[in-house]
Amino acid sequence: MDKLETAKEKFAVLLTGQLARVERMKNEKGFLDYRALEQIIIGVAGGDGIGPAIIAQAKKIIETLLKTEIAKGRVLIKDIHGLTIENRTAVKKAIPDDVLAELKTCHVILKGPTTTPEAGSPWPNLESANVAMRKELDLFANVRPVRVPEQGIDWTFFRENTEGAYAVGSMGFEVDEDLAVDFTITTTQGTERIVRRAFDYAEANGKTRVTAVTKANIIKTTDGKFLRVCREIAKDYPGVTLDEWYIDIMTAKLVDEKRRAQFQVFVLPNLYGDILTDEAAEFQGGVGTAGSANIGERYAMFEAIHGSAPRMVKEGRSKYADPSSIIRAAAMMLSHIGYAREASDLTRAMDECAAEKRIEITGRENGAASEEWAEYIISKLCK
Ligand code: IPM
Ligand code: MG
Repeated sequence: MDKLETAKEKFAVLLTGQLARVERMKNEKGFLDYRALEQIIIGVAGGDGIGPAIIAQAKKIIETLLKTEIAKGRVLIKDIHGLTIENRTAVKKAIPDDVLAELKTCHVILKGPTTTPEAGSPWPNLESANVAMRKELDLFANVRPVRVPEQGIDWTFFRENTEGAYAVGSMGFEVDEDLAVDFTITTTQGTERIVRRAFDYAEANGKTRVTAVTKANIIKTTDGKFLRVCREIAKDYPGVTLDEWYIDIMTAKLVDEKRRAQFQVFVLPNLYGDILTDEAAEFQGGVGTAGSANIGERYAMFEAIHGSAPRMVKEGRSKYADPSSIIRAAAMMLSHIGYAREASDLTRAMDECAAEKRIEITGRENGAASEEWAEYIISKLCK
């Protein structure tokens, strides 16, 4: 067949899928009320690489904090096995069907990092399990807080999590040997829901400013729509000012010590959010220290923002991996499901350990093991 015809067919498939997604979004019913549930099921999925090692520590901490709730049967913690690169390779799926079915029996999920195969790696070119889970469970809001109190930094990022360059990231194609095309998607519904979430958060937390980050001067259609939706939604929040920045200058302003403390809440398309949150986390001590919440109406997933660190595993250093990021994610999860007191107790305990540094994590033998760090945190909890 003519290459243009083939390309058109592929494009039609992609658009059909996205139009169907828009229809689904139009029928969204609202957020799950965890308080109304008789039992909250927390799924714990270790993932790849250092994942199982660090998640074991986070799990122990949740079990400590929710001891009575678990004893009463109000909370059930369920181990989810099989979200590994080996299994995914065996069935050639980003998330094996049985694992996905298990995940869907839970209300919230705490997930370790999963290896994302890249071109040229020994693994097949599977879609990232992370990205697949965000899409399968429609986890549209990626919420990433970064705090450095001594520098006045208190940022919360609302990264759109199911659209942009990621929406059909695995559906780009080579039209011929010289022409490769990828796609980026912005929908009205998909943008409205993330922007509302950012403004609601700002309003509920006494913040006065939401910063929208795009490149709408160049990526006119999709980023342009994102920005237009931000302006529309902002009208509903008279106490919160919308502030507009382009991604290039925003990356620079984050390192501007005179300006950066003025930013509060950010809302941004997927790829910019991916990049800017790594930069932001660096000020707090690196991606290993930041937690990430992926929130949808029915499901929510909480994860570390770092990867599976295959090098640490290869060098036998998994037990020295820093569990801080996944423990921060666990704190976000506790607060999301209504255990705000336990969440702030955990955050305080972590901050105390980080400041006091009776022991230190280095990722190597000369530092504390993940388990010792978790015990250190547990010793600071009000039990
Ligand atoms: C993140 C990660 C993921 C992403 C990868 C692992 C697919 O970088 O959560 O920020 O690109 O979203
Ligand atoms: Mg990232």
